[in-house]
Amino acid sequence: MLNKTAVEITDLHVTRGKHHVLTGFNLRVPNGSITGILGPSGCGKSTLIRAIAGVQVIRSGDVTVLGQSAGSAANREKVAYVTQASSVYPDLTVEQNLRYFARISGADHTAVAQALHDVGLTGREHDLTGNLSGGQRTRVSLAAAFVGDAEVYLLDEPTVGLDPVLRRDLWTLFTGLAQDGKTLLVSSHVMDEAARCDRVVLMREGQLIADATPDELRKDTGQDDLEQAFLTLAERDAS
Ligand SMILES: Nc1ncnc2c1ncn2[C@@H]1O[C@H](COP(=O)(O)OP(=O)(O)OP(=O)(O)O)[C@@H](O)[C@H]1O
Ligand SMILES: [Mg+2]
Repeated sequence: MLNKTAVEITDLHVTRGKHHVLTGFNLRVPNGSITGILGPSGCGKSTLIRAIAGVQVIRSGDVTVLGQSAGSAANREKVAYVTQASSVYPDLTVEQNLRYFARISGADHTAVAQALHDVGLTGREHDLTGNLSGGQRTRVSLAAAFVGDAEVYLLDEPTVGLDPVLRRDLWTLFTGLAQDGKTLLVSSHVMDEAARCDRVVLMREGQLIADATPDELRKDTGQDDLEQAFLTLAERDAS
């Protein structure tokens, strides 16, 4: 039977160092959707994504991905995780990096050319990854996630440092993946990206302050602009 829920989080508590980063966090993410994770720096977005990827030590609670415990071996090829800092090998060329990631995810080499095209790096295959600009390295990391055929994509600030045209093209790619039934969780600081999500999760100091469609957020706050809507919700939550 098709599992309609891609990610389910119940009463998640995470402590990092002295900080109680997530305190009783609950979330359910349906299949075939894009969920934006937004909130101020330090509110716990990356920690939440790490917990879903299964690489974060948790204090208590449950995190289930595609019906399996987060990080379980059964999900290894089904969950692609792009960390906030680029996670590709600087001493390999762009193509060598992607071929490596293709091999570990069981993809063939045609996927490499497609992924390069998707992130706008065709023609840079033979450049040493360490010699690329920050934005280009970010794109190599993204392409590494796209060479496989994952079902769930966890993308931690994938568009930071990218120009508007590239950001638009990547969002078109994300939307296409969701239409194909893939599930994407995308963290961002940029509110205009929230408008492109099916649902938006707003966080503040490790708490969920809203989980709604962009239209619901506008309606609830009476603000057309999502940035204003977020500020209204943050103020409401703080008072
Ligand atoms: N390795 C670590 N050791 C101790 N505390 C950490 C560590 N990494 C993050 N934290 C703390 O956990 C909290 C949440 O961090 P997290 O990286 O999840 O935030 P974020 O919302 O992703 O922020 P940003 O938007 O800046 O990426 C912060 O208070 C941070 O100081
Ligand atoms: Mg982060």
